[in-house]
Amino acid sequence: MLVLIAGITGNLGTRLAKVATSRGLQIRGLGRDPAKLDEKKTGKLESFVTCKTHYDTPALDKAVSGVDAVICAYSPSAVLDLEGHLLLFRAAERAGVTVFLASSWGHPLDKIVFGEYEHYDTHLAFKQQVAMTSSVKPVFMNVGGFADLLYGPFGPGGWNTTGPNPTIEYWGEGNTRKIHWSALDDVAEWTIDLLQIRDVQEGKGGTYQMQSGAATLEEIAAAWTKATGEKVDLIKRGSLEDLESLVYTERKEKGVGRYIEYLVNATSLLHTRGAFVMTELNLTESSKSLTTLDQYLTELLKNRAAVEEYIKSLQSAH
Ligand SMILES: NC(=O)c1ccc[n+]([C@@H]2O[C@H](COP(=O)([O-])OP(=O)(O)OC[C@H]3O[C@@H](n4cnc5c(N)ncnc54)[C@H](OP(=O)(O)O)[C@@H]3O)[C@@H](O)[C@H]2O)c1
Repeated sequence: MLVLIAGITGNLGTRLAKVATSRGLQIRGLGRDPAKLDEKKTGKLESFVTCKTHYDTPALDKAVSGVDAVICAYSPSAVLDLEGHLLLFRAAERAGVTVFLASSWGHPLDKIVFGEYEHYDTHLAFKQQVAMTSSVKPVFMNVGGFADLLYGPFGPGGWNTTGPNPTIEYWGEGNTRKIHWSALDDVAEWTIDLLQIRDVQEGKGGTYQMQSGAATLEEIAAAWTKATGEKVDLIKRGSLEDLESLVYTERKEKGVGRYIEYLVNATSLLHTRGAFVMTELNLTESSKSLTTLDQYLTELLKNRAAVEEYIKSLQSAH
């Protein structure tokens, strides 16, 4: 099986390639800079196609030619989530590829509506556009938040380390809501598992849900304290209604072009309302050994600089 990974030099893309090559799949990479590729991390590739931009159509056509499946693991910026995603999808469609793993790997979309959460408007728009205009049915994966973001400024409660102790903010009963999260290594294993499922290979598409774990803000804080000895302050900022009013005001005053500035509060609102709860999980072979929060933290503390670098790169992608 030959699989194209777009965004192969990225945090998830590198891991996807590593798992896939270790399982004997042939992997082609797509990216803007071959110098960023590290085959010690990805495993040996079938080939690498260089594109100038996400709208470099000749490069996209070359990249999808002859592949059995495409995985879109572009960086999560609004331009790539909608425009880059759709251009790659159209190239795959033109080439007759029927297995397309969409850029997703986040929270479920089924309990939110367009306009409620800018970060996912692009994903909702992609999903709707494809459903309305194509016979190709993409595969979407819900995995909750990436573990690498839990203890960073995009994390639930806006993990803040500017004071003497790290702080997490919440509203209403937000401190006791379970938040789904997944370690990147688990996500990579499940994604490649999916490629080996018959329904996916037959182009049936669909949405699959997995998680490494689910933890409340209190549990996320306690795990940090256990791993580091450092106390975490959970700060209640008000009621759910206060948070609704805050997000409404920030959206109105800043405008959606600056959504990144109120993203954390908008995320808290949806978590507190229960809009990101996954009720059914599809367990695949690799799900039998899931990373625990304690295990994740042990690894994080060894690789803190790399994770901080990744978070910075996500900030600059917006
Ligand atoms: N659930 C969560 O909390 C969460 C968090 C983060 C990401 N995700 C999801 O995971 C997936 C992968 O994200 P990631 O964080 O692994 O991505 P990433 O590391 O930020 O980036 C992946 C790759 O995207 C490519 N890229 C960036 N800008 C580009 C452009 N303008 N044109 C073409 N390519 C460009 C880059 O490759 P080159 O520089 O080599 O071109 C980069 O290596 C996405 O679907 C995202 O939505 C989920």
